[in-house]
Amino acid sequence: MSTDPSADKGPDLAQGVAAESLADGAMLSGHVGDDAVLLARRGDEFFAIGAECTHYHGPLADGLMVGDTVRCPWHHACFSLRTGEALRAPALAPVDCWTTERREGKVIVLGKAASPQATRAASPAAAPQKIVIVGGGAAGFAAAEMLRRLRYAGSLVMLSDDDAPPVDRPNLSKDSLAGSAPEDWLPLRADDFYTEQAIDLRLKTRVVGLDTRARELELGDGSKLAYDRLLLATGAEPVRLDIPGIDLPHVHSLRTLADCRAIIARAATARRAVVMGASFIGLEVAASLRTRGIEVHVVAPDKRPMERVLGPALGDFVRRLHEEHGVVFHLDDTASAIDAQQVTLHGGARIAADLVVVGVGVRPRLALAEQAGLAIDRGVTVDAYLETSAPGVFAAGDIARWPDPHSGAAIRVEHWVVAQRQGQTAARNMLGHRERFNAVPFFWSQHYDVQINYVGHAESWDEIAIDGDIAGRDCTLRYQRGGRVLALASIYRDAESLMAEAAMEREVAPAGTGEP
Ligand SMILES: Cc1cc2nc3c(=O)[nH]c(=O)nc-3n(C[C@H](O)[C@H](O)[C@H](O)COP(=O)(O)OP(=O)(O)OC[C@H]3O[C@@H](n4cnc5c(N)ncnc54)[C@H](O)[C@@H]3O)c2cc1C
Ligand code: FES
Repeated sequence: MSTDPSADKGPDLAQGVAAESLADGAMLSGHVGDDAVLLARRGDEFFAIGAECTHYHGPLADGLMVGDTVRCPWHHACFSLRTGEALRAPALAPVDCWTTERREGKVIVLGKAASPQATRAASPAAAPQKIVIVGGGAAGFAAAEMLRRLRYAGSLVMLSDDDAPPVDRPNLSKDSLAGSAPEDWLPLRADDFYTEQAIDLRLKTRVVGLDTRARELELGDGSKLAYDRLLLATGAEPVRLDIPGIDLPHVHSLRTLADCRAIIARAATARRAVVMGASFIGLEVAASLRTRGIEVHVVAPDKRPMERVLGPALGDFVRRLHEEHGVVFHLDDTASAIDAQQVTLHGGARIAADLVVVGVGVRPRLALAEQAGLAIDRGVTVDAYLETSAPGVFAAGDIARWPDPHSGAAIRVEHWVVAQRQGQTAARNMLGHRERFNAVPFFWSQHYDVQINYVGHAESWDEIAIDGDIAGRDCTLRYQRGGRVLALASIYRDAESLMAEAAMEREVAPAGTGEP
């Protein structure tokens, strides 16, 4: 996903545009020299910031202005129009910010302004001395990055039992696996980031014990590590099927960079793959393997793919989409055994396969929290500030069950953006900010050229109101209970998805500007 470099660059904003040509609340994409610049108007104020999102170059001019922020149309990152700061994940890096001037009826974009980081005050002296993060994934990385962004100057240790530094995990089942993205896209930051930011990232380091009274962790080598504030962000791990053949070398699951590399290595010679599970990850894997020209069979117990989350109509669409790309479904069935040549199903079918990917769901990694005696309820129970039952210990990401003000229920989700945003909120709260986590849940899933965006959270509904044409890939589906919209899924309707998110935010914080 990138903008076409040959596309019209829009007006030269250094020459200025008529102020009256930009209505209140409107945005315009133009350029200053070679830089793509977004000009936005709010009342009598004009803002100019970089026009491309720093996540995957989404065109901000196609996004939504909310107060003095702009939301990216693709995965809902949020930038400050005043400073360019990436206020909400998935974007973590700021866009440039430019100064503007009004002269003779025109608004003119002048030079670049100072970065938000350069003008930020240091975190207070009362900040904790030692912060430890367990987990080098979405939540852990976003927390560490935010702590340093907030100019937290104390000791910061990030422990991960993975052997790779934090990576863009969603990409592992998409462009990376399809072979359309080089591996250097994957790290969330280059290695020297951790040294420069004084983040003591310790890979291949497993945490085996937590003593919340002593405020101390025990590491796999028996050593101890003290903390003043702790963030648990241990994520989830793939569910393991207990069937004969599951340990064969051509059978894989997908969570880590190492898993992705192993599947790619096997895919180089594989001709027929069986994907077990018609979940988001399973079907993204199916799409990526089809892009590599491999024959793909999907085996799943469901009647329709993704029906439990997206409902029957979108489930049928997803099935047809994959079938159009040559995927063969074996639904309402499960595997009973795997051998070197084939997968046998309970229904009796035998499917030849020299590659098997198991994507039957994940379970949160709760062992540490359980051992420490933290309150657990199908996840680590946290309060609105993401603090666990042990003072000073926070939890974020796939393990955290938090009181979601939108659904009114305590929920746990497995979404990249939610994990990152929780990491960011936890970082602020570890520094004493007392920020409630009230972001609207958001996820996206990519299948070939179709991206499904989903805002809100609906575990059940009594009606799905469909607007537009699902087969024509131009639709929104509203998941409603008692007439209230709990969630909205959309295809190629980014503006509506953003507006629904903003409306859900207003229900909880009517006076908010969009700034967290
Ligand atoms: C292939 C794939 C594709 C995905 N695509 C999407 C998508 O398109 N959209 C979306 O919204 N979501 C997607 N997700 C889900 C998303 O990646 C997760 O929700 C997110 O990564 C959760 O972040 P986290 O920080 O909670 O956990 P993780 O990112 O899993 O990180 C957990 C970290 O904790 C470490 N750890 C765990 N236990 C210990 C321990 N005891 N000691 C030391 N370290 C430990 C792990 O090594 C890891 O570094 C995808 C997931 C996968 C696997
Ligand atoms: S491209 Fe902007 S949020 Fe992903």
